Amino acid sequence: MKSTESQTESHDYLKWEERYSRPGRKRHVPDSLLLENWHRLEGPRILDVACGEGRNSLFLASKGFQVTGIDRSPTAIAKARQWASEASLNPDFICWDLDSLSLPGAPYDSIVVTRYWQPSLCPVLTEALRPGGVLLYETYTIEFLRYRPQSSGNYLLQPGELPKFFTDMEIMHSAEVDKPQTREYCAQLIARKIQGISAQIANVTQL
Ligand SMILES: C[S@@+](CC[C@H](N)C(=O)[O-])C[C@H]1O[C@@H](n2cnc3c(N)ncnc32)[C@H](O)[C@@H]1O
Repeated sequence: MKSTESQTESHDYLKWEERYSRPGRKRHVPDSLLLENWHRLEGPRILDVACGEGRNSLFLASKGFQVTGIDRSPTAIAKARQWASEASLNPDFICWDLDSLSLPGAPYDSIVVTRYWQPSLCPVLTEALRPGGVLLYETYTIEFLRYRPQSSGNYLLQPGELPKFFTDMEIMHSAEVDKPQTREYCAQLIARKIQGISAQIANVTQL
């Protein structure tokens, strides 16, 4: 596993660095699926994948969870740390390249992913959850192009695709939602990692 405090460069990396380097302060409203469903997450340890400037990490930390936020952009991570300091919150922010197909600090009680799609990462996310742990995922589908036809179309899900990447989990919520107010179209998933047979036997023998 490797941290990316020393970066390799790619087109996406430069794009995100440029965005996060723009002046101005961003409002840190958490993702709406998270806002409405955070109480369904397991704690205490939660991983926020591709956390950006940390809007979800900060929200979860304010609810008392022990949060680790990871993102490839050093500028985003620096800003997230600054926001956390200003809010007297202490999530751990780590500069991390998800192309490594590894996650720091696993296993977690819950994992949150919003506005990020990397199909090869899906089995890694499942593996990084403890049995009974919860995944909350929300990201754009191809319908998003209705609102942003100029978007490259990369990293967009096909209709019905998201749950197919987590078939070995218990689905708690799955939907595709139009959000005209924010001009977004998203797939949503909340799913629980099924306890393995050995975990179930251990639970029974403890009774
Ligand atoms: C659309 S933003 C979403 C940020 C945050 N999850 C949110 O909802 O506000 C996508 C994020 O993915 C990060 N990212 C892109 N490629 C990455 C990679 N290979 N490893 C880690 N983070 C990456 C970008 O730096 C950016 O912060």
